Amino acid sequence: MADTVQRCERCGAAIDELEPAAECPACGGLLELEHAFRGTPAEHRAAFAARRSALAPPDASGVWRYRELVLPSAESGDIVSHPEGNTPLVERDGVSRWAGVEHVLMKHEGHNPTGSFKDRGMTVAMTQARRTGARAVACASTGNTSASLAAYAAQAGIPALVFVPAGHVALGKLTQTLAYGARTLLVRGNFDACLTLAREASHALGIQLLNSINPFRLEGQKTIVLEVLDQLGWDPPDWIALPAGNLGNTSAFGKALREAQAVGLIARVPRLAAIQAEGASPFAQAFRERFARHIEVDPETVATAIRIGAPASWERAVRAIRDTNGVVESVSDAEILDAKAVIDAAGVGCEPASAASVAGVAKLRQRGVIRPGERVVAVLTGHLLKDPGALVKYHQETEPPPQRANRPIEIDANVDEVRRVLAKSTH
Ligand code: F0G
Repeated sequence: MADTVQRCERCGAAIDELEPAAECPACGGLLELEHAFRGTPAEHRAAFAARRSALAPPDASGVWRYRELVLPSAESGDIVSHPEGNTPLVERDGVSRWAGVEHVLMKHEGHNPTGSFKDRGMTVAMTQARRTGARAVACASTGNTSASLAAYAAQAGIPALVFVPAGHVALGKLTQTLAYGARTLLVRGNFDACLTLAREASHALGIQLLNSINPFRLEGQKTIVLEVLDQLGWDPPDWIALPAGNLGNTSAFGKALREAQAVGLIARVPRLAAIQAEGASPFAQAFRERFARHIEVDPETVATAIRIGAPASWERAVRAIRDTNGVVESVSDAEILDAKAVIDAAGVGCEPASAASVAGVAKLRQRGVIRPGERVVAVLTGHLLKDPGALVKYHQETEPPPQRANRPIEIDANVDEVRRVLAKSTH
């Protein structure tokens, strides 16, 4: 048997690894990669550690370092890597104190080459697109996937087409997408409409779809968890909190933990806490009903990255939450902006959707779900500069100023003015 097959999550059909199918050809279900893992935990750890000193991709990549668990059959010459990953795990007292938990470790995925975790999935999906001879690639996006797709398509030399919701993409993301050269379509509709259109267009026009329904994306995104576990010496935290929109990452995290345990890299599985924005929280609502039904909503939130009402990876995310004894919580826009201001003022910074993870930790702490002494990893999914519009609004334009607003002060060019300002700011 081949080392890797694509398995339909619905009907169980097995599809060759090199078949460029967006969905199961038999029943339309989502596909998942199934690898035959070889090697002992010690052998895996030694291979991961040996690659850490590499200077060039693919070994220098925080995705391909874990290639035995990601895409074992990929040849180095096929790999499209920036490189990516190798993101810091940071702790800041101000953030832990605000969340009410002794240790909140922030996994900062904004340190990836295009400023979000999407690069981890994109390096694998673009590698696969190249291996299978894609003539063009496409995605629907709230902005980060499109920026990442555009950059990796440029590197691979494959034409890229993106579908984004007109008027609802943060400035940093839209401008990245244009700069990296993707053909950019501003669709009059929300993300869910963009994804439906992108799926139809990719079927009709023979373009490979690189959204997170593409199973190769999830293989790359698993490495967020693998890298966290590696950074913690394979001693798992109690919780991993992450923002949840289309539920690709939630699904990837569940798969990473399942496999890390199956391979013997960890003996215990952390609990996942998937956090949604209140105005776009179908998954959190369903969780409260023990996932008895599938819910869709008309989404609205300041966190445009997760402004999604009909998440595509629903079933596999349900499995991730169930497998890890996880929870799903929702937080208001005010809670997100508050958490973001705290993360930003700690000198770390992130985009609004990312702050949902820390806001969720604070809420779960208040509700007594997370205990104060538990070790929590909160994933910051995107960089502070992704959404300058949200920053201008918070710090300069909101009346009355929010609690943590840092208004700039315009002065005449003389030292007395500076002295006056300094006297006010230092007492
Ligand atoms: N955080 C950020 C910064 C994101 O961009 C996204 C998703 C998520 C969290 C949620 O991840 O969808 O896997 O549950 N952004 C997608 C995009 C939808 O198009 O960039 P998810």
